[in-house]
Amino acid sequence: MVSWAVVTGGSHGIGRALALECIKRGIGVAIVALPNKDLDHIIDELSQYPRAHFRTLGCNLVEPGAVETVLDWLAQERITPTYLINNAGFGRGGLFEHTSWREYHVMMQLNNQVMVDLTYALLPQLKRTRGGILNMSSMEATLPLPYKTVYTGTKAFVYNYSLALREEFRYYDIGVSVLCPGPVITNEDGLKRVAAMGNLAKILVTMPEDIAPEAIGGMLAGKDVIRPGLLVKVLVTLGFLIPRRMKLRLLEKLFSKYREEKPELEAVEQ
Ligand SMILES: NC(=O)c1ccc[n+]([C@@H]2O[C@H](COP(=O)([O-])OP(=O)(O)OC[C@H]3O[C@@H](n4cnc5c(N)ncnc54)[C@H](OP(=O)(O)O)[C@@H]3O)[C@@H](O)[C@H]2O)c1
Repeated sequence: MVSWAVVTGGSHGIGRALALECIKRGIGVAIVALPNKDLDHIIDELSQYPRAHFRTLGCNLVEPGAVETVLDWLAQERITPTYLINNAGFGRGGLFEHTSWREYHVMMQLNNQVMVDLTYALLPQLKRTRGGILNMSSMEATLPLPYKTVYTGTKAFVYNYSLALREEFRYYDIGVSVLCPGPVITNEDGLKRVAAMGNLAKILVTMPEDIAPEAIGGMLAGKDVIRPGLLVKVLVTLGFLIPRRMKLRLLEKLFSKYREEKPELEAVEQ
């Protein structure tokens, strides 16, 4: 019988690579992502795999009732997930006041609230299948980034929440892993961040396909924290060793190019 993984945001970027990695390992994927061309693309792409088991749901996860919609859809498709991959999320770089508070609300909702709600809703099924949860955090969870303040905060939430939840869920035989990648080229914001980081970015950035095998392998092995790539591991370790004030000054300097940016119209309107 096929094991299924629910993958949020599985139509693009890292989520797409995680979904493809599951398929390669014989795990069926139930992808939930925004209903648009990215979803159409992943349907076309997965259709090329002769033995792939997949279903897709176009759904905006921050809309009221979204979690109920996901549950109803899984029931209709007769899917009892073994894995839950909470990947959907986004960030913004720039001065704190250059992003509108409305956008911050959506970010906190998608990066944190939706993750908690889905875990809550799928817990009875995960208890039955005794599988695993993979929550998407970031290298920034333990390296707080000036100019990505709210995003950094949401990822620190994911990190601590996942580690704590892991201990609780041990009693149910459900593994909880937290994925903490460095910069991955997926979208416009990622490209902006790479530009802001200058030379360091050139050696640090990866592509989604580079990190997916370690991420899914780590989830299946029940690892607690997954930091894909040697350089990310080294930088995070250094981050724990360097005194906090010095570390934060260095990080501020690294991203200070963001100070030169003009605010977007939506943020000014407040
Ligand atoms: N890229 C990085 O450098 C990096 C590093 C560390 C952690 N992360 C984290 O990794 C995760 C994926 O990032 P990414 O860079 O791969 O992003 P991405 O390329 O923009 O993909 C995000 C995925 O989530 C979907 N999505 C966005 N909003 C949604 C909503 N409201 N409801 C349902 N689905 C939604 C997107 O659908 P559409 O494509 O249709 O918009 C897409 O499938 C995020 O949590 C991010 O914070 C990223």
